[in-house]
Amino acid sequence: MKVAVLPGDGIGPEIIKEALKVLVALDLKIEFEQAEVGGAAYELSGHPLPEATTRLAGGADAVLFGAVGDWKYDHLARALRPEQAILGLRKHMGLFANFRPAICYPELTHASSLKPELINGLDILIIRELTGDIYFGQPKGRRKAVDGPFIGDDEGFDTMRYTRSEIERIMHTAFKAAQKRSKRVTSVDKSNVLETSQLWRDVATQVGKEYPDIALDHMYVDNAAMQLVKEPKKFDVLVTGNMFGDILSDEAAMLTGSIGMLPSASLNSKNQGLYEPSHGSAPDIAGKGLANPLATILSAAMMLRFSLNMESAALAIEQAVQRVLASGLRTPDIHSSGTQLVGTVEMGNAVVAEIR
Ligand code: IPM
Ligand code: MG
Repeated sequence: MKVAVLPGDGIGPEIIKEALKVLVALDLKIEFEQAEVGGAAYELSGHPLPEATTRLAGGADAVLFGAVGDWKYDHLARALRPEQAILGLRKHMGLFANFRPAICYPELTHASSLKPELINGLDILIIRELTGDIYFGQPKGRRKAVDGPFIGDDEGFDTMRYTRSEIERIMHTAFKAAQKRSKRVTSVDKSNVLETSQLWRDVATQVGKEYPDIALDHMYVDNAAMQLVKEPKKFDVLVTGNMFGDILSDEAAMLTGSIGMLPSASLNSKNQGLYEPSHGSAPDIAGKGLANPLATILSAAMMLRFSLNMESAALAIEQAVQRVLASGLRTPDIHSSGTQLVGTVEMGNAVVAEIR
């Protein structure tokens, strides 16, 4: 098995280092090869996603990804910004299915800004379509407005679009995931306004007929955003498009109070996957040893499970993380009185120690 390791920017290199330590401690038959991505790649070669990185990722069984982005690149042309690296990899590898679990660990209920009783035991799986929608729809660009009240004015435009096949395959992913959970799917759209969303809802309903064991309901995205803070435990599997999923997955992650804990997986139809923490590159704390490596370590566990077929090793990591939390170790993002404050490296070491 071959894993491409792409640490990226900000806290990326620090958290990836800890995840690699954990994987090495498990003594698995995995070959690791590292490459530059994002701002780090731009500095070296003038492009955030160099061809060598794309080739390495495409040829690997899985990609372990840190994070990309830094405000210092905001002035660059869009095609050269670090974020284009992750979008390019998603497109190149066909990673259409993004799994973002939002789980509230019992030890961390206090870390949420919601009342403990609302999020205690929370376990939502957001499935976000990742290669379509307004993110990739053409045409997009800048021009002079040709109609409306501001003719001739500068105008920015993007195209929201989905095809039936794209919606069908993400729906199958969602229904299959729900079969292994509590057999409920909420499909989120904006079909009261958008044609793209009306097709989404129609196709969701049609595919749902093939899964009589699953209860499907539909919700408008604005209402879903509200319900997530009002009564989050109502949700089980939530499936939605690229842009709504971007927004709702951050919201759901933060419900748990600990975005530093949440892993994610992006899969293609061959189960090749890219695994990354749900949080970003946090340039403000980079290099200070303050970042929580657990989301990346848990992403490595997802990688073992989904792409490398190493379920027992995945479980070993997840159980080690749970024991470390139970022992009271906390990085600053999840720290509270009565627990022991540790840094990035100590947290990684503690997980390794539990595995050994
Ligand atoms: C995410 C991020 C990315 C996205 C950015 C970095 C391009 O916000 O993975 O959620 O919008 O998909
Ligand atoms: Mg996002």
